[in-house]
Amino acid sequence: MRHLLGIDELDAGQIGAFLTRAQEYSDALKSGSWNTERLKNKVILHLFFENSTRTLTSFEIAAKRLGADVVNWNPETSSLAKGENFIDTVDTLVSMKPDGIVMRHSEYGAPKFVASRAGCPVINGGDSWREHPTQALLDALTMRQHFGKIEGLKVTIVGDIAHSRVASSNMQLLTKMGAQVSVVAPKVLMPESLPFKEIKAYDSLEDGLPGADVVMTLRLQKERMDKALISDAAYFNEFGLTFEKLEKLCPQAMIMEPGPLVRGVQMEDSVAEDPQRSLILRQVANGIPTRMAVLDMLVGDVA
Ligand code: NCD
Repeated sequence: MRHLLGIDELDAGQIGAFLTRAQEYSDALKSGSWNTERLKNKVILHLFFENSTRTLTSFEIAAKRLGADVVNWNPETSSLAKGENFIDTVDTLVSMKPDGIVMRHSEYGAPKFVASRAGCPVINGGDSWREHPTQALLDALTMRQHFGKIEGLKVTIVGDIAHSRVASSNMQLLTKMGAQVSVVAPKVLMPESLPFKEIKAYDSLEDGLPGADVVMTLRLQKERMDKALISDAAYFNEFGLTFEKLEKLCPQAMIMEPGPLVRGVQMEDSVAEDPQRSLILRQVANGIPTRMAVLDMLVGDVA
């Protein structure tokens, strides 16, 4: 049985295989021709214990484009609200024998725990600040489509590096695929250690942005902070992307953001909406072929 729990478990060859299949689905979606019965008779269970717009919706659309049936379990209307604990909830749901589970949870490693009890592939749709592997894959697909490569790209990730699972998965994927990754954050939002020694850390845009091909910004993950570590205004003042700063520091760079974007804190509107610079909606669109590829390769029967 194969699961997708994190980029930490994948080597460059396995990442490349997901990206190749994702590109095939991206082309197929454009031409309107793919195997719409690839996951016929399969039931995918969505176990999202945390909020989601893009990830949940795009997994659902991806599954349906491949002919699967999707069950969206909802924590608010479930027996969790009656006092049932997490383990009993999980054991109850896996005993119904879905063919695949996509899950998101605030606890570190929760998808791995579910994988140990489920008789089907488990796909991590985000756990705590640890990993969000399909987001990193769709970001990589977006970069490869735009630049024609990942190797050698200079990618600067700006924001709450300490609490962001998107930063964690992207730092790992991009480094494994040969990109040069830098991270920029206020000191209070920089983790004590980074996954690879090649990754450069800066505490100002002036130091971190020059030379970047891609600037990826991440919101302040306030739900994972015990108290406010920096005010929105102070963050925007020092780390918010403005047209002026980008023109001065990295005029060629493309802007990426996994969503949800917090306007006026991470960047000003003119940057988010700049059609020359922003890849944000391309990222969202690429969620579908990327998740089709992951579901196909993990849940689809081996031909
Ligand atoms: C991210 C997440 O949930 O980790 N969103 C997403 O899946 N696109 C990023 C975030 O919440 O900031």
